[in-house]
Amino acid sequence: MQHSSKIHNVRYELRGPILQAAKKMEAEGQRILKMNLGDTAPFGLQAPESIVKDMIHHIRGAQGYSDSKGIPSARTAISQYYQTRGLMQIGVDDIFVGNGVSELISMTLQAFLENDDEVLIPAPDYPLWTASVTLSGGKPVHYLCDEDNQWWPDMADVEAKITDRTRAIVIINPNNPTGAVYPRHILEQFARLARKHSLVLFSDEIYEKILYGDVEHIHTASIAKDICCLTFSGLSKAYRMPGYRAGWVALTGPRAATAAYRETLELLASLRLCANVPSQHAIQTSLGGHQSIDELIRPGGRLREQRDLAHRLLNEIPGVSCTRADGALYLFPKLDRKLYPFSSDEKFVLDLLEEQKILVSHGTAFNWPDPDHFRFVILPSTTDIEEAVRRIAAFLAVRRHAAGTAGVEGTPADADAAADTLADSRV
Ligand SMILES: Cc1ncc(COP(=O)(O)O)c(C=O)c1O
Repeated sequence: MQHSSKIHNVRYELRGPILQAAKKMEAEGQRILKMNLGDTAPFGLQAPESIVKDMIHHIRGAQGYSDSKGIPSARTAISQYYQTRGLMQIGVDDIFVGNGVSELISMTLQAFLENDDEVLIPAPDYPLWTASVTLSGGKPVHYLCDEDNQWWPDMADVEAKITDRTRAIVIINPNNPTGAVYPRHILEQFARLARKHSLVLFSDEIYEKILYGDVEHIHTASIAKDICCLTFSGLSKAYRMPGYRAGWVALTGPRAATAAYRETLELLASLRLCANVPSQHAIQTSLGGHQSIDELIRPGGRLREQRDLAHRLLNEIPGVSCTRADGALYLFPKLDRKLYPFSSDEKFVLDLLEEQKILVSHGTAFNWPDPDHFRFVILPSTTDIEEAVRRIAAFLAVRRHAAGTAGVEGTPADADAAADTLADSRV
């Protein structure tokens, strides 16, 4: 069978050939240290027991389809949650529940984009955004986030990339893969640009509750009340239940301006009948009452400790620099290309996997333009983080030495070849 030409520029390398290579190695009996996927379950981070119990309690009553926008108790809970956070404009009708944020990203973009419409997306991004814009016929245009300024978006670059075909800006806050959390003045600038150029804001806030230290998460919609804005969140991360697939989007902005789009979203929501009903029952219980994520992120909490340790150890490796993550579950360290002239970051990740049995994700998979970053997940235990960083450091020590052997005149390919020879001779 032929595949659709619509797939041509669609990439999701996080689950691509490198992961396949790792699976093959595992099938052969090798143990891989996985520092690549943002799934909480393999690392022993369990969903709160009260939520699981509540889902089990509702399971018999959840056999039928639900309202295509979601069950009323879940949508009421979501609307009340936002209202307690100052977003008084979000009513039950403004909420669509979906099978995770992922489904809603593609649904909301499909409902919105004409062919060749441009959408501004951060670089680096969570690559589903780029893929979904492409699949919806749109054109992703990446704006740079600035590593030297806490990975906040470079607002001059955002503005410079707006054209008369630009329709929307995607904001991922807290950000995957950088862990950046945006301050008010950055969000205000996004709102100003959206106002000036009549753009819609797509704000992915799935990590809104995973914050370290004193940073505050600000909802884009709370700043941009007069602008058409979509706010995405869900249970996958803070409530540690990515497999249950529960997420939502809230549509805000002037009622008249959003009316036609709202109808289209309702149509697309109906076409897929409804989101998984048992997990919709987890939403109300999750959003109310005790928030167990707080224990994991405060000083001494597991996620906080893991972030601190990974950040410190990675920065101790010569030629590796890593900005601290203020939120989310990732670090996005940079490799000094003079010390480590890999021909590609995929080669770096594959060699690391083969030689040291550790799996990280290469930076260009997140639409970062240069092959000089990788993503390191902070979900594994401190013991695994220590071991993983030790292996990365050992791997890079060989590469440093090899780059020296290839000489400053050598090409990245020469350095790769020298490193391969050196690594082979040590096996
Ligand atoms: C920024 C971001 N948005 C959305 C998702 C997908 O969330 P869900 O599990 O709700 O589909 C992820 C998953 O890692 C993510 O990192």
